[in-house]
Amino acid sequence: MSLRKPIALLLVAGALAVTSVAIAANAPAASGGTAATATLPANADLIKIEGVTELDGADIVRGKRMFSQQGGNCISCHGWDGDGTGKNPRSEGAAALLRESGLDAAGFIEIISCGIPGTPMPYHDSQAYKDDRCYGMVAADFEAGQEPDKGKSIKANDIVNLTAYIMTSIQGKPAATYEDCAAWFEASAEKSCAGFKK
Ligand code: HEC
Repeated sequence: MSLRKPIALLLVAGALAVTSVAIAANAPAASGGTAATATLPANADLIKIEGVTELDGADIVRGKRMFSQQGGNCISCHGWDGDGTGKNPRSEGAAALLRESGLDAAGFIEIISCGIPGTPMPYHDSQAYKDDRCYGMVAADFEAGQEPDKGKSIKANDIVNLTAYIMTSIQGKPAATYEDCAAWFEASAEKSCAGFKK
């Protein structure tokens, strides 16, 4: 069972200049009802990822799945709670602490899509570096052996769903509790979250 509800991704820009998308989400009333908002900046049109500014709905439950092993497998490096301690040897324990990320929606979308060249953070847009949609670069612009790492392919709308999940469920949150752990592992919580119990 998930406590998260799908959130509305509201198109707030005019029809001709679609440069701003607001993500608004309300936490369940039981946990205080804190609202999280994020707005793509005016330079969002620099992100040449088809569909991103046209979506009118983002699904956090789906985004959570994208964060998991069944989706983009972000957890292998970032950990299920985004604390930067996944088990993938490629990240060498150096994956970013996503809870403390200062990125906005456009920043998350860009980094998830394009990765961070020169680091283990892989790109997830299957067309990245085939054309110049990412940082204006193509694979041939990198020295041999320095090309960006490729992660699992994630479609543009799922990158938005994933961003919505991270911004509402990970970013700005304190260190995970047993309840957070149980919400992630669900049926296997008893076993997987034993470390949280005193
Ligand atoms: C192979 C390991 C690996 C995988 C898989 C991976 N990451 Fe990363 N990620 C990293 C590392 C390492 C960094 C830090 C790079 C640096 O700046 O040195 C990073 C950085 C980031 C950042 C930048 C955070 C900030 O505030 O600067 C974001 C956002 C991010 N990852 C999201 C994701 C998401 C979402 C996924 C899954 C779709 C994912 N990552 C998959 C290793 C990984």
